[in-house]
Amino acid sequence: MTSKLKGKHFLTCDDWSNQELDTVFNTALDLKEKFANEIPTRYLRDKTLFMIFFEQSTRTRNSMEAGMTQLGGHAHDLTSDKMQLSHGETPKDTAIILSRMGHGIASRNCFYTIGNGYLKEMAKYSTKPVMSLQDDIYHPFQGLADLMTIFEYFGKNTKGLKVTVSWAYADTHSKPLSVPQTQILLFPRYGIDVTVAHPKEFPLSKNIVDKALKNAEDGGGSLKFTNNMEEAFEGAQIVIPKNWGGFGYYDANEYLQNEEESKKEMKANLEKYRNWICDENKIKLADKNVKLMHALPADRGHEVTDEILDNPDISIVFDEAENRLHTAKAIMSLTM
Ligand code: CP
Repeated sequence: MTSKLKGKHFLTCDDWSNQELDTVFNTALDLKEKFANEIPTRYLRDKTLFMIFFEQSTRTRNSMEAGMTQLGGHAHDLTSDKMQLSHGETPKDTAIILSRMGHGIASRNCFYTIGNGYLKEMAKYSTKPVMSLQDDIYHPFQGLADLMTIFEYFGKNTKGLKVTVSWAYADTHSKPLSVPQTQILLFPRYGIDVTVAHPKEFPLSKNIVDKALKNAEDGGGSLKFTNNMEEAFEGAQIVIPKNWGGFGYYDANEYLQNEEESKKEMKANLEKYRNWICDENKIKLADKNVKLMHALPADRGHEVTDEILDNPDISIVFDEAENRLHTAKAIMSLTM
């Protein structure tokens, strides 16, 4: 496959124009049809992708690795502890070396205040495309799969579609801000009206909100905020209930200087909002044909009840997860 996008890094959807993203969606759709019909798509024959995971992953890891196999290439599934990164080798040296040996580098690094800078440093020195598999700010592959799923269910004309991105309670770990931040940056570019609900102690990063408001103005969508989950669900055509950590409540430097204290406070704040769950009562407030989306893994019984997550008339989370494969293959085949 020859593509004008060959060599382009994929660190955030914000670096890609709507025209470029439309090429990605068309390619993903074509790859999805060919996958369903078992038509070979060996566009990356003999090519190598290096994937470096600093955190756990199910969807991202397997969509990339299966995707590379299906495109005729191979992905190295690396973790930082398998590499000299764990002895302090720099992202710069790592990127130079890996880009001489293969055709693409992809990494997940969600460490707060570090991840995005780490990926940008690799992109600066890599001669091959660098792809973000999620960092502390963005999760671009998730954004693509989300939007592809929305197009499949609601059509390509998404002007005026009402999408609610809501914070929800979860007790597993402080999840990064990157999924909701990617969604609020991306959806309004396609005319979508996004409502974000969160308790006051769990805001998104101010600079991302400012950029998302600008994207909404340019893209014909809208973006509004509330501290009331019920209010945000009223009339929503899509609801996305998901936990994220309270990082945006703090100045980043202050957070890092008092990290233990901030984490304790965050945990105490979290416990005030156990009732922020997507359940039948909240779903009743939404549009009668409402769809549930979630990047997964879902914290069942906390973020969303089993009853809603497993309701095939409402939940489209597994279609969304499957689209991680097709969008990953689209980006890899267009850039590598
Ligand atoms: N949605 C998502 O990124 O899932 P994983 O963490 O399993 O990759």
